[in-house]
Amino acid sequence: MELPEELTPLYKRHVFACATQRPTTHPRGSCGASGAQPLWEHLGKRIGAEGLQQAVGFTLAGCFGFCSAGPLLVIYPEGVWYRPQSIADVDAIVEAHLKGDRLEAEQVVVLSR
Ligand code: FES
Repeated sequence: MELPEELTPLYKRHVFACATQRPTTHPRGSCGASGAQPLWEHLGKRIGAEGLQQAVGFTLAGCFGFCSAGPLLVIYPEGVWYRPQSIADVDAIVEAHLKGDRLEAEQVVVLSR
């Protein structure tokens, strides 16, 4: 079956946030060990508080493979990766990217394989 020319998106944007938690002594590190959990809890609450649930999907995900760069989230369809370090950083991403349709440039991380 061929892919259709265009699919109707379920959401305007979909945020995937890495929730993998490894022990702090693990050599790969993890987003969880870098403080992801309270950031993602806050992000989920903000999406709800802003009334964005219909427009923005929010999914906790497993490891993206860039563990030492965490905590990481990626927003589609743009495919922009962010590395928020604080609640204020999460708020800035919500205001800029999810509400303002623009990059929160200070939190963007460029990853390479
Ligand atoms: S633990 Fe988050 S990218 Fe691997």
